[in-house]
Amino acid sequence: MSLTASEAAARLAARAAAVIPGGVNSGQRRVPGLEELVITATSGSTFTDGDGRVFTDYHAAFGPPLLGHNDPDVDAAAAAAARSVGLMGVGVTPVEIELAERLVAAVPSVEKVLLTCTGSEATFHALRLARTVTGRRHVLKFQGCYHGWHDSVAMNVISRAERVGDKDPLSGGMLPEVVAATIVCPFNDADAVERALDEHDEDVAAIILEPIPHNIGAVLPVPGFLERLRELATKHGTVLVFDEVITGFRHGLGGYQAIAGVTPDLTTLGKAMANGWPVSALGGKAELMELFSTTPGQPAFFAGTFNGHPATTAAALATIEKLEREQVHEHVFRLGERARQGLAALYERLGVPAVVAGFGSVFVTYFLEGPVERYDDLLRNDVDLFVGYRRELMQDGIFELPLNLKRSHFSYAHSDEDVDRLLAATEGAVTRYLETRA
Ligand SMILES: Cc1ncc(COP(=O)(O)O)c(C=O)c1O
Repeated sequence: MSLTASEAAARLAARAAAVIPGGVNSGQRRVPGLEELVITATSGSTFTDGDGRVFTDYHAAFGPPLLGHNDPDVDAAAAAAARSVGLMGVGVTPVEIELAERLVAAVPSVEKVLLTCTGSEATFHALRLARTVTGRRHVLKFQGCYHGWHDSVAMNVISRAERVGDKDPLSGGMLPEVVAATIVCPFNDADAVERALDEHDEDVAAIILEPIPHNIGAVLPVPGFLERLRELATKHGTVLVFDEVITGFRHGLGGYQAIAGVTPDLTTLGKAMANGWPVSALGGKAELMELFSTTPGQPAFFAGTFNGHPATTAAALATIEKLEREQVHEHVFRLGERARQGLAALYERLGVPAVVAGFGSVFVTYFLEGPVERYDDLLRNDVDLFVGYRRELMQDGIFELPLNLKRSHFSYAHSDEDVDRLLAATEGAVTRYLETRA
């Protein structure tokens, strides 16, 4: 007996739940209402689910496929590299050298660079290096920023109101001593950072931040904030780390630091760097990077079986070449701007209080009265509307992740017609949602 598409998808989801805890391989992938979502294909700006429905994808795996899913140039480069040189675990391959040279040339703070596979590894090594070089214990992060799953930083991202101002760990099992050694400050509040540095009496090894906290949508740094952090870090002998895992490549080859004109000591890169292949990087001042154990006798241990894998490294190189060769950033920035303007006009017309935020290819609508400068402002967001209209949008074959504060992305594979469709469908989805709620 043959199964319908829906039955087949439900069976796949049930098989997943039987052998994979929760049925998914990352806690962020289990979204209420989408427990049976199975993805069977991706292509350019779209994905196909287990029922054979095709969606225009604005979630974009939290950001990597800047060129669109399955970019033929990137995937061909990875496949060709895989056929010619595999993982060796000794020495270095030409493609790793070439990628490092490109990163050093493109990103202002990067004089030397090491490759990892995930963003979490890159931020982990950045903080360990900062502690090694300063001999200090604390790290300072900001409410609303996410830097990965390790104990020093896995806290205070999307916190409930009552947890803001306190430690808000993302996980059980985190060592209390490590959690205690992390200071959390409000983003865009340089005075709070100054006070924290003074209070901790030269015991802060690093300040780490997303220069635009995209893990809560898009809260832009207020003028002068990044500059003040640079000054404070220098004054206190603290290592300044820009976590550009999202902003790097997506906003420009030089990262947001090249746009802002503020140069950190260390930079982490990932996500869009290889258009969806697992490659991340940690780069920065040579005098710091040379303290890793890749240089014999140096104290900061650095290792990883899959680091600099030739196939994924080739994917990163091909991504950079395409970003240099074609008008990718011009295209995605233009679509992003059109969408933001169109959405702002739409909410004005509907009389729905909204702040349409974003930068470049990234856009998000918060349903609140502006301005949005601090995490606390986002506590006013109408969460039900934020999630509700996105669930409605799925009826129109459009996918923005239906989770509070999550951002959306344009890729090179999206078109002006996609923007038109997005605007029309959003108007319908918001109207329908508000009618059913009334
Ligand atoms: C800014 C930022 N840094 C680090 C990470 C961790 O990267 P990964 O999930 O590749 O470990 C993320 C992941 O979302 C991120 O958004």
